[in-house]
Amino acid sequence: MTEPAIHVSDVTKVFATPFRRRRIVALQHLNLEIAPGEIYGLLGPNGSGKSTTLKIILGLIEPTSGSVRIFGRDHSAVAVRRDIGFLPENAYFHKFLTGAETLRFHAKLSGLSGRETKSRIAELLATVGLARAADARLSTYSKGMLQRIGLAQALIHHPKILVLDEPTGAVDPAGSRDIQNLIVSLKKRGTTILLSSHLLTQVQEVCDRVGILHRGKLLREGHLEDLLAIENQTELIVESATPDFLDGLEQQITAAKARVVARRKPQTSLEQFFLKVTDTGDE
Ligand SMILES: Nc1ncnc2c1ncn2[C@@H]1O[C@H](COP(=O)(O)OP(=O)(O)O)[C@@H](O)[C@H]1O
Ligand SMILES: [Mg+2]
Repeated sequence: MTEPAIHVSDVTKVFATPFRRRRIVALQHLNLEIAPGEIYGLLGPNGSGKSTTLKIILGLIEPTSGSVRIFGRDHSAVAVRRDIGFLPENAYFHKFLTGAETLRFHAKLSGLSGRETKSRIAELLATVGLARAADARLSTYSKGMLQRIGLAQALIHHPKILVLDEPTGAVDPAGSRDIQNLIVSLKKRGTTILLSSHLLTQVQEVCDRVGILHRGKLLREGHLEDLLAIENQTELIVESATPDFLDGLEQQITAAKARVVARRKPQTSLEQFFLKVTDTGDE
């Protein structure tokens, strides 16, 4: 088997709060293995330990026990950090800078050469669909546009792994869809993506695999379709059938000793409905 992109082994994190009156166990014996090129979604309610997990993987905080390996190497090695791009939860942006200036600033921080910087910025702005907004100040950007410039910023040094903390958190459905599409296009280029979310609907379409975190423990893990499936039921969505035909079908089902649980018109999800009736073009 190839080396996992991210390998979290038996990680526990205990926070000692001020004056040590109380200890918070944020993670308990967490194990995660994310394959190269995979999109993995860490799902869980607020306070379940998602951000703590991501920060430990990034080497921003130390685990109390356990270890993290990135492509087989200890995550604390400096060279390993260059492999990872990160978009934090509620990322802070300098509102007075333009989109292009923001990326130039981060290109300098990550040591890109002058010539490289110019073409990289143009390429990234196009990738995240902000080419036309390049010279507008971030104070004029929508939340979706801010998240996209944040994504571009995280990608500036061509990381092999992208870590996104609540990437669609404060974004409206159209903006959230843009970000989902971007994530899928990055996967096609071979980037490994680890993202967190407390909203299942916003990640279910893009993730190859998800883990459900609750009070610092990984409760379930797998393909979302399998996790959500009701094992002994099958849903049949039929178009243009007459009521008579459907009645006949129901009789056959009953005769076969199976049971019709519901017969109803399918509904579009609120999110899809919203996308259909609104046309919110950013930029
Ligand atoms: N620096 C910290 N000091 C003390 N407790 C913390 C710290 N960071 C997180 N926690 C606690 O750890 C738990 C998990 O937090 P977090 O990882 O931020 O959850 P999530 O991202 O899933 O909302 C929470 O109970 C939170 O209050
Ligand atoms: Mg969080």
